[in-house]
Amino acid sequence: MTSDFLVIGTGIAGLSFALKAAKHGSVTVITKGQLIESNTAWAQGGISAVLEPSLREDGDTFEKHIADTLDAGAGLCKEDVVRTIVEEGTETIHDLVNHGVHFDHDDQEPSQFALGKEGGHTKRRVLHSKDTTGYAIVSALIEQAKEDPNITLLEEHFAIDLITTGKLGVVTEDRVLGAYVLDEASGDVHIFRSDRIVLATGGCGKVYLYTTNPDSATGDGVAMAWRAGATISNMEFVQFHPTCFYNPAATGAKARSFLVSEAVRGEGAKLINDKGEDFTLEHDPRGSLAPRDIVARAIDHEIKKTGANCVYLDVTHKPKGFMQERFPHIYNTLKGFGLDCEKDPIPVVPAAHYQCGGVVTDVNGRTTIRGLYAIGEVACTGLHGANRLASNSLLEGNAVARRAVDAMIKSYPLEKEAPQPPSIPKWEHGDTTPPHEQVLISHNWDEIRRLMWNYVSIVRTDNRLQRASRRLRNLRKEVREFYWGHRVNSDILELRNLVTVSALVVDCAIRRKESRGIHYTLDYPERDDHYLHDTELRRF
Ligand code: SIN
Repeated sequence: MTSDFLVIGTGIAGLSFALKAAKHGSVTVITKGQLIESNTAWAQGGISAVLEPSLREDGDTFEKHIADTLDAGAGLCKEDVVRTIVEEGTETIHDLVNHGVHFDHDDQEPSQFALGKEGGHTKRRVLHSKDTTGYAIVSALIEQAKEDPNITLLEEHFAIDLITTGKLGVVTEDRVLGAYVLDEASGDVHIFRSDRIVLATGGCGKVYLYTTNPDSATGDGVAMAWRAGATISNMEFVQFHPTCFYNPAATGAKARSFLVSEAVRGEGAKLINDKGEDFTLEHDPRGSLAPRDIVARAIDHEIKKTGANCVYLDVTHKPKGFMQERFPHIYNTLKGFGLDCEKDPIPVVPAAHYQCGGVVTDVNGRTTIRGLYAIGEVACTGLHGANRLASNSLLEGNAVARRAVDAMIKSYPLEKEAPQPPSIPKWEHGDTTPPHEQVLISHNWDEIRRLMWNYVSIVRTDNRLQRASRRLRNLRKEVREFYWGHRVNSDILELRNLVTVSALVVDCAIRRKESRGIHYTLDYPERDDHYLHDTELRRF
């Protein structure tokens, strides 16, 4: 299959790109699993944006949004990138509304959007659609994409690896030519040809035992880009969301996977310990609404100090019916677990939430490989620095996607033929049978996620990182044997990506001998400006 643009991933970034690119040429959009399965679809809180002056409330400005983003990013944001993206807030919201996305309006002033607040924001500037904002966005974009005759949407198509001229042995240039793609239904592997490829595959929350992410978040884009030779950066900065529902009745990973949006704290909910004390104030005067790194560490500290399993998010002081009206998804899901959050505090713990590093790009999504772009959580543009400000990611996904289309058609014009590539070899299957013992794959999965949780999560040490590194080296060997020895399926592919991305997180973390943003190590508890730069990993 050949198309002008190949997009891998169906969250806000991939779909926003596809809808704009389709005005210029043919677009193939592929995703493993179902179209609706993405980190975007699970985003609750919303999308931060300072709207045009005529629409702004309470004196918010671009400068304030920029300052909050830089503050959260702990010195590592690229200010020009932050400025560009923040200043595209109004256009992003217009683009989404034009595609049929509904954002809630203010009860008092129905001509205005209702604006929520989250940690680290000094103003209310988070647009939302109740507490299922991401779902509202992707379902509207999917509907639009289905209507567009220039867009082909393919579910259950898992991109295995990028094909580049470099991999085919060309010495004088390295550009992207396509991807090997597994058709999950038939088990066949096809070549998808395109000179313009977008990675929009989301993040890697599943490398950790406990995460707010869907099962699909296995770091596929970062792993593929790494194998293709792209530069990867800042993978040590994995953000832990402070408030995931802790469900004592559930066992295993499911015990810690349901997100309770930061927007709930934005509406006045407080974090308390089992004595009812707001312990967060000991750590930061902003208390429960301090940036996430501070709140997540405060919770970790409190849990270790008291030996409790969790802390609590208390929203019982809000008027009856408030949670049902403003956060119906959270209210009803908790009700389903037997908890009435209007009567009882919600038990919560931190869990892996967002990958702030990724494939290095400029503000237009351009990677270090020609023709390859990366947008959204998979990318490291410099917007997030050492810690992402809440709700900036949906903004980045749409703003960079729209810019990437312009940049791509300028650099790789559709009217101009690219030089003829060498012929692309067909995919060679390993052993023609699937692995005999599928259980070994799930054991490896489990081992990786546990070791990452135990040794590479909120609080790190050199010892823990070295231990993780040693274990990952062995696991990589085993996974490689699986990959080369058997007919591939999505479990093997995810495992291979998971072990690669875990190794990238550990390698970046080992290199940063300081604490900054969401990378915190007991061995170097202070910031050290000797490390005031990105942690770049390049293949030789
Ligand atoms: C949340 O709703 O708390 C998540 C928002 C985000 O991660 O940006």
